[in-house]
Amino acid sequence: MKNKYIVLSILVLSTLAFGANADSAIWGKELIPNILGYDKEGSLHLGYLFTLLQGTYFKPVFLGVLLGVPAVFFIHYMIIGPMIFSHDRKKIYVFTLFNRIIHAIAGIAFMLLIPTGLVMMFGTTFGGGEFVRACKEIHAISTLLFIVSIFPMFTMWVRWMFVHWDDFKWLMIVGGYLNKNKKPVPAGKFNAGQKMWFWLATLGGIVMIGTGAVMYFQDFKLGILVEYGISQIDFLRASALVHNILGMAVLALFMTHVYMSVFAIKGAIHSIITGYKEEEEVEILHSSFYKKLKKQNKI
Ligand code: HEM
Repeated sequence: MKNKYIVLSILVLSTLAFGANADSAIWGKELIPNILGYDKEGSLHLGYLFTLLQGTYFKPVFLGVLLGVPAVFFIHYMIIGPMIFSHDRKKIYVFTLFNRIIHAIAGIAFMLLIPTGLVMMFGTTFGGGEFVRACKEIHAISTLLFIVSIFPMFTMWVRWMFVHWDDFKWLMIVGGYLNKNKKPVPAGKFNAGQKMWFWLATLGGIVMIGTGAVMYFQDFKLGILVEYGISQIDFLRASALVHNILGMAVLALFMTHVYMSVFAIKGAIHSIITGYKEEEEVEILHSSFYKKLKKQNKI
């Protein structure tokens, strides 16, 4: 029975890997000469880099992130397991209704953006055609949903997201996730990992929206950029490169965010639904914030 699963996993992985190579071949044989034809004088000459990354490296790296990150978390869950905090003590109100609604909109947007983005990345593996085209449109529509959430999300949380001395200490102990000791972890309302996710999702999100729009609307007038010697094809190539590299980071941190919220800290997801966190969770995982609340007599 166990062997059957191993054989099945190898089959799935090799199908995906060959799919990726088949895509590369198509980029290599058909698109590259066309693209290189546009690499005219005065441009940024991104043709070679674009062809190399887009044609050869992006798909296997995306596949590596998609399978590698959950694999690491699976091992973490098996060896260390989830952190479990008492549900018998007080609950601390940390997220307002507004916070939760904005977060829910971003969450829904990403649950559509990520799978549809991956389908486009592995377009030929999915047989191209209508299905991939439909995903492209869903990707664009869910971007509108993300746009609605990104500015309120930035303004409602930014004040807690600046670097603090605690963040370095947090990084040194990998947030305390490598063991299950209930030793207070240095962190404010948000820890270093959460801060990284915030900046990537908001500032990175704006760049993703911009570069995505460039690729979606392909045929637009560049205006002033042309005067600086940046051609239309340069702009498209640069946008595709930035969108894909940032996309990998977003994919990796999104999976990390969901793992932390749903698996690594038992019941953590309730805080973004109800607004309340367990007192013990705040005391251990956000110890500086907890001390501050105590000092202010807010607990
Ligand atoms: C759909 C799956 C998602 C789940 C299950 C989820 C879950 C959560 C939870 C439980 C928290 C509170 C964490 C804590 O303080 O203990 C949280 C916070 C947060 N979420 Fe999400 N989230 C999701 C999607 C997203 C998306 C798509 C974004 C951004 C575009 C996002 C951005 C944030 C940010 C910036 C915070 C505050 C900092 C942090 O806790 O990382 N979340 N989320």
